[in-house]
Amino acid sequence: MERVNRVALIGTGFVGSSYAFALLNQGVADELVMIDLNKDKSEGDAMDLNHGLAFAPNYTKIWYGDYMYCKDADIVVITAGANQKPGETRLDLVEKNATIFKSIVDQVMGAGFNGIFVVATNPVDVLTHMTWKFSGLPSHRVIGSGTILDTARLRYSLGEYFEVDARNVHGYIMGEHGDSELPVWSQANIGGRSIHEVIRDNPEKYKEEDLEDLFIGVRDAAYHIIERKGATYYGIAMGLVRLTKAILHNENSILTVSAYLNGEYGQDDIYIGVPAVVNRSGVREVLELTLNEKEKEQFTHSANVLKETLAPVLQ
Ligand code: 2OP
Repeated sequence: MERVNRVALIGTGFVGSSYAFALLNQGVADELVMIDLNKDKSEGDAMDLNHGLAFAPNYTKIWYGDYMYCKDADIVVITAGANQKPGETRLDLVEKNATIFKSIVDQVMGAGFNGIFVVATNPVDVLTHMTWKFSGLPSHRVIGSGTILDTARLRYSLGEYFEVDARNVHGYIMGEHGDSELPVWSQANIGGRSIHEVIRDNPEKYKEEDLEDLFIGVRDAAYHIIERKGATYYGIAMGLVRLTKAILHNENSILTVSAYLNGEYGQDDIYIGVPAVVNRSGVREVLELTLNEKEKEQFTHSANVLKETLAPVLQ
């Protein structure tokens, strides 16, 4: 029999169900099992999604179930946990969600899971680290969504500003998925041309100072969305599908995920948002960009913020 790809999704709240919807629409996985404490919600979601199968690009077997289905899963995606209330930071969620994660990861591993974890719950860098610790899996098989969405937000904003397709805008947000993240302007380019050059050559149209405002908009985007509708989910869901696809289809794609650093960027024993090559084995390698002095400092600061948050919960 042909090998099938199975994704097990833990948590069918706004992010989880949006992920399931995007996964089905893009026809990325052969099987999707949806697991949630609220069985009615995951059963209802599975029914609803199955009714869309006739309109999907290909067949996906979708059902709701319990942890035993994680045994044969290639990827377990975790979106379960509390999310930010207006005014709360991602780091404020750490205690609540760390406890939930212990129970989730224990149950997934107890089922005999031996695949790749993809973590999206906030604070994502910290919870990815805890998932790695709790699971005992090799660090390259535990991946957080990291700054995948922040990078997409940056590309969108730069695309609007420079009036260029976001897919032709290249630039990364690195660091914590949260308030201490940083834009890597030194490497940002439009179709290969440095954005600093583009600005310099079009002074009547573009200004360096605008970049700072643009970054602040990206960094604080989630707060603005949460103020308006209570949660963010479509963007992150699409980012998670992109990551799922890179893994299942062995794409060797470069994505800004929360990956484990072992000396890269001068950091050890930390999960943090960095560009990394992702394939069927998980994180194949971390891409080490040449950061300028300011970026190096900002990255170190962000890593320190994460270490301070992690230390008490690891005890
Ligand atoms: C986001 O950035 C809240 O982390 C979530 O949309």
